[in-house]
Amino acid sequence: MTADELVFFVNGKKVVEKNADPETTLLAYLRRKLQLSGTKLGCGEGGCGACTVMLSKYDRFQNKIVHFSANACLAPICSLHHVAVTTVEGIGSTKSRLHPVQERISKSHGSQCGFCTPGIVMSMYTLLRNQPEPTIEEIENAFQGNLCRCTGYRAILQGFRTFARDGGCCGGSGDNPNCCMNQKKDSKVTLLPSLFNPEEFMPLDPTQEPIFPPELLRLKDVPRKQLRFEGERVTWIQASTLKELLDLKAQYPEAKLVVGNTEIGIEMKFKNKLFPMIVCPAWIPELNAVEHGPEGISFGASCPLSSVEKTLHEAIDNLPAYKTEVFKGVLEQLRWFAGMQVKSVASIGGNIITASPISDLNPVFMASGAKLTIVSTGTKRMVRMDHTFFPGYRKTLLAPEEILLSIEIPYSREGEYFSAFKQASRREDDIAKVTCGMRVLFQPETAQVKELALCYGGMADRTISALKTMRKQTARFWNKELLQDVCAGLVEELYLSPDAPGGMVEFRRTLTLSFFFKFYLTVLQKLGKGNLENNCAKLDPTDASATSLFQKDPPANVQFFQEVPEGQSEEDMVGRPLPHLAAAMQASGEAVYCDDIPRYENELSLRLVTSTKAHAKITCIDISEAQKVPGFVCFISAEDVPGSNKTGIFNDETVFAKDEVTCVGHIIGAVVTDTPEHAQRAAQGVKITYEELPAIITIEDAIKNNSFHGSELKIGKGDLMKGFSEADNIVSGEVHIGGQEHFYLETHCTIAVPKGEQGEMELFVSTQNTMKTQSFVANMLGVPANRILVRVKRIGGGFGGKETRSTVVSTAVALAAHKTGRPVRCMLDRDEDMLITGGRHPFLAKYKVGFMKDGKVVALKVEHYSNAGNTLDLSQSIMERALFHMDNCYKIPNILGTGRLCKTNLPSNTAFRGFGGPQGMLIAEYWMSEVALTCGLPAEEVRRKNLYKEGDLTHFNQKLEAFTLSRCWDECLASSQYHARRSEIDKFNEENCWKKRGLCIIPTKFGISFSIPFLNQAGALIHVYTDGSVLLAHGGMEMGQGLHTKMIQVASRALKIPISKIYISETSTNTVPNTSPTAASVSSDLNGQAIYEACQTILKRLEPFKKKNPTGTWEEWVSAAYLDAVSLSATGFYKTPNLGYSFETNSGNPFHYFSYGVACSEVEIDCLTGDHKNLRTDIVMDVGSSLNPAIDIGQEVNVSGMLENTGAKDMGSIKRTKGMARRKSLLENMRVLGRIGGTGDRGRHRELEY
Ligand SMILES: Cc1cc2nc3c(=O)[nH]c(=O)nc-3n(C[C@H](O)[C@H](O)[C@H](O)COP(=O)(O)OP(=O)(O)OC[C@H]3O[C@@H](n4cnc5c(N)ncnc54)[C@H](O)[C@@H]3O)c2cc1C
Ligand code: FES
Ligand code: FES
Repeated sequence: MTADELVFFVNGKKVVEKNADPETTLLAYLRRKLQLSGTKLGCGEGGCGACTVMLSKYDRFQNKIVHFSANACLAPICSLHHVAVTTVEGIGSTKSRLHPVQERISKSHGSQCGFCTPGIVMSMYTLLRNQPEPTIEEIENAFQGNLCRCTGYRAILQGFRTFARDGGCCGGSGDNPNCCMNQKKDSKVTLLPSLFNPEEFMPLDPTQEPIFPPELLRLKDVPRKQLRFEGERVTWIQASTLKELLDLKAQYPEAKLVVGNTEIGIEMKFKNKLFPMIVCPAWIPELNAVEHGPEGISFGASCPLSSVEKTLHEAIDNLPAYKTEVFKGVLEQLRWFAGMQVKSVASIGGNIITASPISDLNPVFMASGAKLTIVSTGTKRMVRMDHTFFPGYRKTLLAPEEILLSIEIPYSREGEYFSAFKQASRREDDIAKVTCGMRVLFQPETAQVKELALCYGGMADRTISALKTMRKQTARFWNKELLQDVCAGLVEELYLSPDAPGGMVEFRRTLTLSFFFKFYLTVLQKLGKGNLENNCAKLDPTDASATSLFQKDPPANVQFFQEVPEGQSEEDMVGRPLPHLAAAMQASGEAVYCDDIPRYENELSLRLVTSTKAHAKITCIDISEAQKVPGFVCFISAEDVPGSNKTGIFNDETVFAKDEVTCVGHIIGAVVTDTPEHAQRAAQGVKITYEELPAIITIEDAIKNNSFHGSELKIGKGDLMKGFSEADNIVSGEVHIGGQEHFYLETHCTIAVPKGEQGEMELFVSTQNTMKTQSFVANMLGVPANRILVRVKRIGGGFGGKETRSTVVSTAVALAAHKTGRPVRCMLDRDEDMLITGGRHPFLAKYKVGFMKDGKVVALKVEHYSNAGNTLDLSQSIMERALFHMDNCYKIPNILGTGRLCKTNLPSNTAFRGFGGPQGMLIAEYWMSEVALTCGLPAEEVRRKNLYKEGDLTHFNQKLEAFTLSRCWDECLASSQYHARRSEIDKFNEENCWKKRGLCIIPTKFGISFSIPFLNQAGALIHVYTDGSVLLAHGGMEMGQGLHTKMIQVASRALKIPISKIYISETSTNTVPNTSPTAASVSSDLNGQAIYEACQTILKRLEPFKKKNPTGTWEEWVSAAYLDAVSLSATGFYKTPNLGYSFETNSGNPFHYFSYGVACSEVEIDCLTGDHKNLRTDIVMDVGSSLNPAIDIGQEVNVSGMLENTGAKDMGSIKRTKGMARRKSLLENMRVLGRIGGTGDRGRHRELEY
């Protein structure tokens, strides 16, 4: 049978694809076939939104054009017949005109690394297409499916709320009494609150948007006919009628129905499942119908969840409240569901039939007794969803040839109450730990139970009902006895074995009770409102807080930064909130990241083959299946390495494992093929046989087995024995700190291009470390470093994860390029990235602290253990930094810290924002809280009492100079109104039994410098061209932290020319050699100073020409110098002076200086579920003389958000430039409400597997 042509539109242009492959996603098609690389790949599973596009189609069921956002990574191209796709490139460009959405996100500093920005732009754009004047809530909801790792969302929302009708920023114009900027008046210091001027923004003109393609509009009444698309392995049939669909299902019972592909797509990509026959029912009227019947609302199974949501909202507005209890339950679940991109395409039927044990909707449907209509050729049956509907893991009652036609969600009746609850690790867009639907129906006008339904997800391999417990309650009254009985029943009935998939067994079991308790109280409250004379209990007012559903607070924030000194020239941009210079290109999708580099004609794709065992001998590698995959070129392994297979910072790693693997994810080899899809299949085909060896996984295992890297590290001062003997009190204990996954939005990526001459190779890499990339590749290939050129344009976030671990990919790719003689590319999938590369080190600390009755600490001993993983990597430096920060900000006269690096069979853990500092400080804050508790004193008083003072020596004997911490502390205490709020919180806690609030103020001091002295060096290269334009190169990588922007500001001030004359193209090993990694919060300091030096050289050379022509221009002086044969190219170099600490003698300075900050946060916790929210955070941070306050504040919010999960508030990454100017305080007071980037966001599809 011949395949049909697929016709769709992209950015107004018609695309006709004659060979549409059902396995091809829109994302792959856009990026590879159409070279539209603005749409990014962040996760490939609908979880990050980097691939967001707008889809528009004429909806025949609603008779109108509809626009909706969708994840291109999940949308099969075959689902797009007669659909118009709009990508970020289609709405605006820096070459013509930016769209207001693109302009506002870039000017409001909402784009740092920019990798998430196109997706965020498209989510906002789609919202505005549907709602040109949205509410703040609608704006926030539009981003539920978009992750950003850099900005903490605050800046993004601040920019976008200028579109809102209920909170648009007035820019401090004075018209709005509630303006966030008015808070400036309360401040005692003269500080600027606004980082951008909304008056500069272009207005949004909805009439200027591109129109829906007229050709598609003309087709709206043309009858549809069945379509067939044939791919390499999969056939896709688009059925146009129900009969066709049922006939196809009868003919191919194993065929999968695909609507949104949000489940099937993931099974294909991540579980390597193959579905040779796919039938798409999206066009069938019966499957899209919505009918309001006498007993409920019926939805065709293909209805997208977004339209279910809309219909139910409308019903709630129009029907009596008692009828819509179940609808509210469904909506409560959809509120915390996936983002808009998923809800717009994922179908209600798909959610049911997927039969996920953690489906949020199925417990609600089951508890409500929803009615399902199931059809096949010639048969139709109706079933109520009950405990029999899911007979097993991911199984339903449907026979293979049957399909789900519709689901009727019932109206609730008088005397019937319904609640739904979901608890996940984070509120938005996360998979549930436990989820449930609960319903009770009372005998008329009484509180006597007629029916009770309690249905749970996350408690078994399917959605279940607590049948025994439910049934026992019939005819009982809604009171404490019933509550106790249900709880006892649930404990017995909802058992989970200790090793149940999904873990957190105790927590999950507790949640089942907590949810019922909430339901019990909520129903009591509702019954109370009806004033029933009955046997039911009354709601105690202190219990009421358990009944309120989790609400997001409207985001609000304000920041203050110091104005540039009076008299600073307008052209001097240092200290001004200049937007990130690439922000506009990032927002328009023009900014080029590694994988956006156009493919070479003869390019190959590489996929790594990694160990599935933690510790084992490799007994056999069989590649015969891989070789059968079309496009297979070769398999590479240790045997192919021409130079050394040994690699790593301490040369204790392998490029490819030989004979033995020491962690899951250990790289054994790689397949090289023509496309990434073939590479994935070929890698699956490589079969490795192992002989397993004992594995060490945890810190405790390592201690038990004496498994360590290197020897013990130690810093001590004073007389510990004496200190403890003099102490009034001694407490000891343990602190366990978990790890944290890296989730830079752009995963590791390398393109290696062999140059064919003398071993030359050019590598484009997403790395923070060009030098190690170059030297490791050279070492592996056995060529001098001068043959290897490493180039980095920008990277989509690094956070330490690309400081060394990027080399494991780039070295393998370089070998493939060497072996094949062709360009080779590899961009890791998110799951591979997380598997192969390590993250933040988990820590265990055993502490003993001695202190006086007044809280003064006199002695401290802490034994630190970190889980370093299978190789040393940066673990020693990380432990050193933890030891340097074990005092946090406190003077402890007698102190000893030790550190051991546990050698385990985990992928080597590595640098991660703060680099051991957060762990050291968090441990300090833990025992400090213990001290306060034991003394019965307010924690802030004890902390203040122990703070260092100006001129004190730290435990590593570094003198604290220009110590502004006390001032930060006092300002934070005052601006946060700490004491007044403390009393309010105490009152709140007294009045509320189930929600509690807490307030804490914490200081930080962070040492600035690499702790390895020689790394504190940097180089710069400056070329001045005859037209006066300046090309700048330095050793730092642009990864979103705005380094290039700041460096251009520095050069602009030094040369006294506008920033528009200066350009940074990339970072490369052939412009600045031997660069230290872009890390340790020193890149602005080091590279800025090197640039400054290079500029001085140029200025000196221009001096005679300036003297000769004092009124001349920059261009005239440059031209005169050229004509006089004076070099207009110079290098600059800088090394931080006076560094060098010795552990032996505990002397010498490890840091050039410290940065100080204080944060005060108020949080609220739901004691029943663990739900928590940050109500307010105030941060006062001294970042010295800020080169760019907008970027520094952005980094500040980012760091705070990223460390939230570790419990630490580390302010260490704020840059300040010593040497550029005398230190001044930049004091910010940021009220950060709402979302702060979740951390360690694992793909949401790592669900329980049974
Ligand atoms: C990022 C993300 C976040 C998510 N968040 C949540 C969440 O918070 N809570 C939650 O519960 N779920 C969540 N999901 C799951 C999501 O709701 C389901 O994947 C979705 O509803 C499935 O619908 P679909 O149309 O995409 O299904 P598809 O992938 O197209 O199909 C799924 C399955 O349903 C079958 N099927 C579809 N229609 C029919 C029919 N009419 N008759 C018979 N079989 C049919 C298909 O054959 C296939 O087996 C999330 C998914 C993603 C990707
Ligand atoms: S790449 Fe599509 S959602 Fe992450
Ligand atoms: S700017 Fe959002 S991920 Fe970097």
